[in-house]
Amino acid sequence: MNTRTDQRHRAGATAEDIQAHYDIGKDFYALWLDPGLTYSCALWDGIAGAPGSTDLLVKAQHAKLRYHLGQAGITADSRLLDIGCGWGSLLRMATEETGVRHAVGLTLSADQHAHVRSLGLTGADVQVQDWRDHEPEDVYDGIVSIGAFEHFADQTMSRDERIGAYRAFFARCAGWLPPLGRLSLQTIALTDDTDHDESVPEFFARAVFPGSALPRLSEIATACEPYFAISRLREDGADYARTLQGWSTRLFQAREQAQLLVGPDNYRRYRTYLRASQIVFMRQASTLYRITLRRWPARRGPGGTSGRQALPE
Ligand SMILES: C[S@@+](CC[C@H](N)C(=O)[O-])C[C@H]1O[C@@H](n2cnc3c(N)ncnc32)[C@H](O)[C@@H]1O
Repeated sequence: MNTRTDQRHRAGATAEDIQAHYDIGKDFYALWLDPGLTYSCALWDGIAGAPGSTDLLVKAQHAKLRYHLGQAGITADSRLLDIGCGWGSLLRMATEETGVRHAVGLTLSADQHAHVRSLGLTGADVQVQDWRDHEPEDVYDGIVSIGAFEHFADQTMSRDERIGAYRAFFARCAGWLPPLGRLSLQTIALTDDTDHDESVPEFFARAVFPGSALPRLSEIATACEPYFAISRLREDGADYARTLQGWSTRLFQAREQAQLLVGPDNYRRYRTYLRASQIVFMRQASTLYRITLRRWPARRGPGGTSGRQALPE
């Protein structure tokens, strides 16, 4: 299912919205992301130096990927699901470094799908599929989702509607995990009382990420509670400011090639988006959360003592 008509009734970004952003072309993203094309906030713990350096960006992105695999409890014997797998950097680390033999990645981008397939990762299967349509034959041992949650609701939705959309996501994830199975989630979030229709969020929704909106931590906590305990939470907004500084510097350094590839208007739009995002994180109007969620130990029905909801079969 990947047409706007099919998906318009759904919350958040459609496949068309996603492709408008990601399918501007891998060659363009390759100019300013790290060589593994990881398109999300890196983890800069203990890494000093200029974030635009390829070596440092690779190191910080690898640290982030390892962190999430660890938090999801992934070992060589695990079955792994990566929701929003991008250009496949987590699948690559899982299969080549951790030795995972069964990993599934979901993306809505045809360009990303083609790229991941071209990597020929043994044990990894990538699908152009919305998580809402995913029907695995067996449960997974762990789930990772990095930088996709921001696309699961849009700026037209009320707080209750956003919570409903996030809850649907957590319900599906819980249904794909055994009791105590872990989901390692990374997402940008709003920290202040900025409304979704104010100028900066409006610019991002219109010019950069159509069909998307940032959650608040309270919405995530409310949405996941029937299915998951939050077992660890890191707030790493400063890491995103640093990652964006690195990407922005690299894009500026490659400006001539970038303009040849995507044209001067797109180049300017991306430079503005990266610089504006960096400022938003520096001002702490947005932040970055890495959240480890652990499925509740046993299924409990609505009439049970905990009052937690029954999981979908
Ligand atoms: C910012 S990219 C992050 C990619 C990757 N996790 C990384 O860190 O490089 C967001 C990803 O989420 C995917 N995505 C967004 N909404 C989705 C949905 N409803 N179902 C599956 N994938 C989705 C996009 O196709 C894209 O691959």
